[in-house]
Amino acid sequence: MTQTFLVTGAAGFIGSHSVEWLLAHNHRVVGVDNLRTGHLENLEVARSSPDFEWMLADVCDEAAMRELFKKHRFAGVLHLAALVSVPESFREPALNYQLNLAAADCIARLCLEFECKRLVFASSAAVYGAHAALPNQESAIPQPQSPYAAAKLAAEVMLLGYAASYGLETICLRYFNVYGSRQDPGSPYSGVLSIFTDRFQCGLPVTVYGDGEQTRDFISVRDVARANGEALTQMQVVADRYNVCTGRGISLNQVLAIYQELFPNAPSVEYAAPRIGDIRHSQGNPEKLHNILILKSQTPFEQGLRELVVGGLGR
Ligand code: UD1
Repeated sequence: MTQTFLVTGAAGFIGSHSVEWLLAHNHRVVGVDNLRTGHLENLEVARSSPDFEWMLADVCDEAAMRELFKKHRFAGVLHLAALVSVPESFREPALNYQLNLAAADCIARLCLEFECKRLVFASSAAVYGAHAALPNQESAIPQPQSPYAAAKLAAEVMLLGYAASYGLETICLRYFNVYGSRQDPGSPYSGVLSIFTDRFQCGLPVTVYGDGEQTRDFISVRDVARANGEALTQMQVVADRYNVCTGRGISLNQVLAIYQELFPNAPSVEYAAPRIGDIRHSQGNPEKLHNILILKSQTPFEQGLRELVVGGLGR
């Protein structure tokens, strides 16, 4: 039976890929976005499908969201809409509270009111903080170091409280460093691989903050979209928090070695002082999620990066 799913933040980087995964698996999708940071062009493929319905709306608008829940009987919700920038959460703590905590609570209450059983929530590896033991395990005590991480953690607690209280099937996915096409390189705080790809393609030098030996657990957006889709649609899931990562830490210098093969004539890399608050090493343990979801093999980093460079950021 065809089921209908709601995706909030549908026009974003992860949202648009997740919508496409759901459509490719024969589901109907309603996509909502206020286009604050999302782009309608990201939904070009989705909007050509008769199984996709687009709605320009703000997830904080409870009346508009209630109308949507009334109109459709959602089998599940993928809640991705968020304030996505950590530095912005320092500048705009009230907006961070609204978008990253209050909106999640609103969506969860609507799920309860309209008997939508499954809610998949976009959390972040940021909840671990800089001093957590590696690899990050979901059982570690979180140490949020930004308003962004604090709101994501608070939302997790709230939603898992609803799971325990009302049986809402809440899956909190802690994304690590997601990369791939449609990641907007437009701000200095954009994902490092979107910035590097954009600058190398324009023949411009890239800047590495620090010595380049910091590591990240980079995961392809394609694998993240699949994890989202499987979490939303698989029968047997356990309401809980899960890392979405590869388990492999890669240094920026290793990443640059791959770029240097792809752009042999690129200007030399510039090194600058480390960014304030920068985490030295980030690497997660993916086992818990892999144990509940049947996930096929993941995209090897070298392959994912080459595809991004060849295919382009906009695809
Ligand atoms: C990322 C997420 C953040 C999340 C965190 C969880 C993005 C944009 N940010 O932060 O939302 O909370 O993971 O762990 O996805 N760098 C350079 N040169 C540049 C840009 C960045 O050297 O031009 C460096 C940074 O200093 C950092 C590394 O690259 O050491 C990764 O930076 P970035 O992609 O911004 O991600 P995180 O800070 O890890």
